[in-house]
Amino acid sequence: MYTIVIFLTIFLGFASSQTIPAAIPLTVRSPYFNSWLPSTNGVSLNGKWPTFWNGRVLAWAGFVRVDGQTYQWFGRNNITTILNATTTSYHLTPTRSIFTVSAGPAQFNATFMDPIEPSDWVRHSLPFSYLFIDTLLTTDGNSHSIQFYSHSYALWVTGNADNVVQWDTTDTTSSIYHEASRLNKQPMAETGDFAEDSTAYYAMAKQSGLTWQTGFVDDLINQFATKGALADTKDTQFRPITNNNPTLGLAIDLGTTKELSNAVVWAIGVVRDPSIRTVASAGIESRSTYFWTRYQNISEAIDDFLLDFPNAYDRANALDTKIMIEASAVSPEYVKLVSLGLRQTMGSMEFTTGNAKNNASDIKVFMKDVGVSGRVNPVNTMYAALPALLYLNASMVPYLLGPLLDYQSTSAYTNTFAAPDLGTTYPTALGNNTNTILGAIENSASMLIMTFAHALKTGDATMADRYYNLLKQWADYLVTNTLHPSGYETDDDGLRYPDMSNLAVKGIIAISAMSKLAKALEKPNAEIDMYKNKAASLASEWEKLAVSTSGFVTSTYGDSSNWIMPYHLYSAKLIASDIISDTVFTNQQKYYETQIPQAGLYGLPYDSHNAQRVRSQWLMFTAGTIADKTTRDAFISMVHAHAFSNASDAPFPGMYNAQSGKTFSLSGPSSPVQGSMFALLALNLPNKFIELPLYKRARKGAIAGGVVGGVVLLVAIAALVLFWRRRRVREKAVRKKEDIMPYVGVGPSAPGGHESLQNYIGNTSFDNGEVRPFTDLPHPDVNPNAKGTIPPPPMSASTDLQTTLQGSSSKSPSRTAASGTPQPFSPSRSFLLTNSESWIGMHSRRGSTSSLNASSVAPGSSSAGQQELFVEVQQLRREMEELRARQGADEPPPMYRHLDTE
Ligand SMILES: *[C@@H]1O[C@H](CO)[C@@H](O)[C@H](O)[C@H]1NC(C)=O
Ligand SMILES: *[C@@H]1O[C@H](CO)[C@@H](O)[C@H](O)[C@H]1NC(C)=O
Ligand SMILES: *[C@@H]1O[C@H](CO)[C@@H](O)[C@H](O)[C@H]1NC(C)=O
Ligand SMILES: *[C@@H]1O[C@H](CO)[C@@H](O)[C@H](O)[C@H]1NC(C)=O
Ligand SMILES: *[C@@H]1O[C@H](CO)[C@@H](O)[C@H](O)[C@H]1NC(C)=O
Ligand SMILES: *[C@@H]1O[C@H](CO)[C@@H](O)[C@H](O)[C@H]1NC(C)=O
Ligand SMILES: *[C@@H]1O[C@H](CO)[C@@H](O)[C@H](O)[C@H]1NC(C)=O
Ligand SMILES: *[C@@H]1O[C@H](CO)[C@@H](O)[C@H](O)[C@H]1NC(C)=O
Repeated sequence: MYTIVIFLTIFLGFASSQTIPAAIPLTVRSPYFNSWLPSTNGVSLNGKWPTFWNGRVLAWAGFVRVDGQTYQWFGRNNITTILNATTTSYHLTPTRSIFTVSAGPAQFNATFMDPIEPSDWVRHSLPFSYLFIDTLLTTDGNSHSIQFYSHSYALWVTGNADNVVQWDTTDTTSSIYHEASRLNKQPMAETGDFAEDSTAYYAMAKQSGLTWQTGFVDDLINQFATKGALADTKDTQFRPITNNNPTLGLAIDLGTTKELSNAVVWAIGVVRDPSIRTVASAGIESRSTYFWTRYQNISEAIDDFLLDFPNAYDRANALDTKIMIEASAVSPEYVKLVSLGLRQTMGSMEFTTGNAKNNASDIKVFMKDVGVSGRVNPVNTMYAALPALLYLNASMVPYLLGPLLDYQSTSAYTNTFAAPDLGTTYPTALGNNTNTILGAIENSASMLIMTFAHALKTGDATMADRYYNLLKQWADYLVTNTLHPSGYETDDDGLRYPDMSNLAVKGIIAISAMSKLAKALEKPNAEIDMYKNKAASLASEWEKLAVSTSGFVTSTYGDSSNWIMPYHLYSAKLIASDIISDTVFTNQQKYYETQIPQAGLYGLPYDSHNAQRVRSQWLMFTAGTIADKTTRDAFISMVHAHAFSNASDAPFPGMYNAQSGKTFSLSGPSSPVQGSMFALLALNLPNKFIELPLYKRARKGAIAGGVVGGVVLLVAIAALVLFWRRRRVREKAVRKKEDIMPYVGVGPSAPGGHESLQNYIGNTSFDNGEVRPFTDLPHPDVNPNAKGTIPPPPMSASTDLQTTLQGSSSKSPSRTAASGTPQPFSPSRSFLLTNSESWIGMHSRRGSTSSLNASSVAPGSSSAGQQELFVEVQQLRREMEELRARQGADEPPPMYRHLDTE
């Protein structure tokens, strides 16, 4: 036990030491509700604006007033009497971004917490986040008069700041909330990646000292700076955001204090209803966010969200601890990557229910291809994100695959291979029956692998059974086409060579998945054997064709001058398929060892045809195929070197230049593919014995009963005949046999393999004539050579350890000579919002400002810090013991006894 504590102390010592990603996630909860803190020039919560994933500023701000002097700790303004607070450190966990802020004599943590609730999908689907202040202390140990204030903006609700917005303030039983939306909402429409039909909320629980106000931003700041409280008044002049920036403010007066008894908590959210328009077997339906199954109205949801804060905090802490401890068994860099990646995947999805909102069993999950396009449930993006979903709660997977499987089971879908997505215009998901075969192998294989991985990790084959005929059709397509793919492309860059090795092997692994599914579902032996034998023979042919004489996998068959990173081999590991021989893995590992020294600063490309292009998700999948720890960790380091360096220029992007680190345009800032960071953790998940679905088991039992009954009856008849003969022969009385098992007949009727196909093709047009500015996005920038920038140096071990930020910590306070006497507030336009700010614009426009540099020296830890550390260690230890106990308690059933016995 003592050693555990020591280990955890070391681990925590590391965990608080992090280098800086290009952008730190603040709220990442839905495709339309996410915000980031750009950090290429250092981490500072203030002096810059948080932005949407695409770089547009969001103008969300926070202030603290200490003894009459106001400091800005979040966001930016040009008002000379407002001083800048200083961000002294930051800390990232999978659900939280924690910033330690110093403002005059006050020091506190500001935390952005994004609930990830794998076992409560109502809470998970509520598109709200917490911003809270805790661990307040005063550096002089004395009490001071302290007030906090934060405001949000209607910028969340439109991509065009010239649109007129409206707002209101509501006083509920237990909270005060502001809301804002467009005056003319446009259902299911997007502008510049923003939804035009959302309502933004900003809320606080009722408590003493709470004040609120709506109005021109400078008026609110002025009011707070001079009075320390807002005026509790509503502005009723609805106008565009660009006109005297209408602002929604909430403030709290803590009185004279040197500590906080409760955290100061704001709730922020962006809600749309309905949230999705999609096809189903019954036709087109509008769907609502899943949380509506529990709440009558938004007031009730907001009250509950705020009241639940202490529990939400405990759950977030427990989830973070579990993930970080398990990831630390891999490597410290890996802990950082799973911490950065998770919110991107979870925040790209929306859990929905039917528009009637009264059926909690009606669940469908939709994912947007955030950072790349407007595609809905993009199959290969989901394939990359799958490890995180399997790890968090594999039961989510069928609800995400379901809308695709449903659509393709209807007569509206006529292809014999799987579709790439449900359409290209999120949040409208009407399906796409385009007959291009370009993605046929990628998509069919992804669907089969995901379906089987879900069955294997949950033991639940209901989805696989329900859509078996569809899956079989796709497997048959692969049997015919996957060994010599020609006329197909990969999802990576639309590479279209014939005989692409990595694409071919994905199809083969998928056929192997099909054979295991057929076996689990007790299909006829001929069918099981056909897939099994096909997978085996295709795999051995593939090994002959794809592996070069020197042992590495070539990009296309026979071309030993081009190599590929066959990252789809990860899927073979994930689904425990031994279809590809071990020597392929070991030879490939040896090959990587020769390539690693030649890798670009930010990693190995996935195909030597595209030697400049690196994808984080495929580096991490590849790490999962490597047995040797050093080589595996080298791949993790490649991903880490980019994700936690200032060479990146967007929120954790999927694809970037191997040398410069620059993100290719539309290559996935904030992309859900980063669920791939969980690739190694997903390999640790136990494989379950796959049960026949319940209804099948019942029927099987009945048939078996019938058979047994029949046999017993025959035996009985035989006995009777014998008895009769004996009696005839011996003319003696014999006792009659009574214990004949009754024939029970067939069990409850099982659903058929396929849904009945309904035709709703005539019903798919948009009916409200809305404007849809979103256009299909082109392929990523494929001209890496245009970016001839000199690559920055790689991350060194020393910068890795210096994450506590310092520098201007003494700057702002010392400028406040008369900090006790606030200077008169001079109203000015504190900022102007433009629609054109973007990542590129922001980073080039802002040189290094007063924000801090990562390479400053860390101050010594305080005894209060050590106390906290101790508490956290205790908690981690408890959590770990719990984990152990749980693992002991539910030993996974014997693996694959069903699948791999031959
Ligand atoms: C990026 O970091 C390196 C080393 O940490 C530093 O030398 C360089 O100036 C930084 N670049 C920017 C744009 O901040
Ligand atoms: C606060 O920081 C911003 C951004 O760096 C700067 O423009 C502003 O002048 C600073 N305010 C003061 C009072 O120093
Ligand atoms: C506040 O932030 C500091 C620095 O990151 C950290 O050491 C401390 O644990 C945080 N406090 C809480 C309650 O999270
Ligand atoms: C997964 O989600 C289901 C449905 O919400 C829930 O019953 C189950 O407990 C969850 N499992 C885990 C491991 O969270
Ligand atoms: C919201 O629902 C709750 C519970 O049903 C009810 O008490 C409350 O009056 C409703 N509030 C509004 C604003 O409709
Ligand atoms: C609720 O939804 C489930 C799943 O879609 C469906 O099977 C069930 O029939 C629905 N129940 C009602 C009462 O509509
Ligand atoms: C269907 O997919 C094709 C190919 O990806 C695309 O060009 C087309 O716009 C899509 N159509 C719809 C309605 O989504
Ligand atoms: C605030 O200062 C910045 C940087 O100097 C400038 O770009 C911006 O236009 C100023 N905003 C206003 C409202 O003056």
